[in-house]
Amino acid sequence: MSLLRVRGFEIHKTYLSATEQRALISELRPLLKAAPLFSPETPRGGKMSVRMTASGQYGWFSDAAGYRYIDHHPKGQPWPDIPTSLLSLWHGLTGVERAPECCLLNYYGEDARMGLHQDKDEADFSYPVVSVSLGDDGLFRVGGTTRGGKSDSLWLNSGDVVVMGGDARLAYHGVDRIRFKSSRLLPKGGRINLTLRVVT
Ligand code: SIN
Ligand code: MN
Repeated sequence: MSLLRVRGFEIHKTYLSATEQRALISELRPLLKAAPLFSPETPRGGKMSVRMTASGQYGWFSDAAGYRYIDHHPKGQPWPDIPTSLLSLWHGLTGVERAPECCLLNYYGEDARMGLHQDKDEADFSYPVVSVSLGDDGLFRVGGTTRGGKSDSLWLNSGDVVVMGGDARLAYHGVDRIRFKSSRLLPKGGRINLTLRVVT
């Protein structure tokens, strides 16, 4: 475990041990069954390469009507509860009293990526976003709060946890690519990223 700071992003390397990572995957299995992954459409009609689902009161969603949070899975069922281990992780790392209302789950298959973006569909940016990486390595790109500025990239490995708070809360970030099958945590390979967010 070590703490790295890049452009205000707090990167806790190997915050979760291999045992904790495996335990978390076991908690995610029933969640994925209750709320299967789906491929959101971008507002411009494209398909995101990342597949998603969520737990908590709200899940992030995107289609022709735009980016937003919705209170049910696109198939109609309510989102499952956020795993308690993730609630503890949130409180332990941030010291924030409020609980996260969304745990977004992004699954990156071999060719998935996520373009540079800001997380700004939440109501109050004084709350951080906490991100947990599991499975294959992901090349994380971090910039500043304006589009097109300088950026840095670093590999996020399984068990790493990133806190995006303060100046980094509205900083651009994205995932350029993953190193498919670099980890054995997920039997079929790929990368899971969980982000915990206060939405309202
Ligand atoms: C995200 O910005 O929602 C995901 C970031 C990541 O996959 O590390
Ligand atoms: Mn994001």
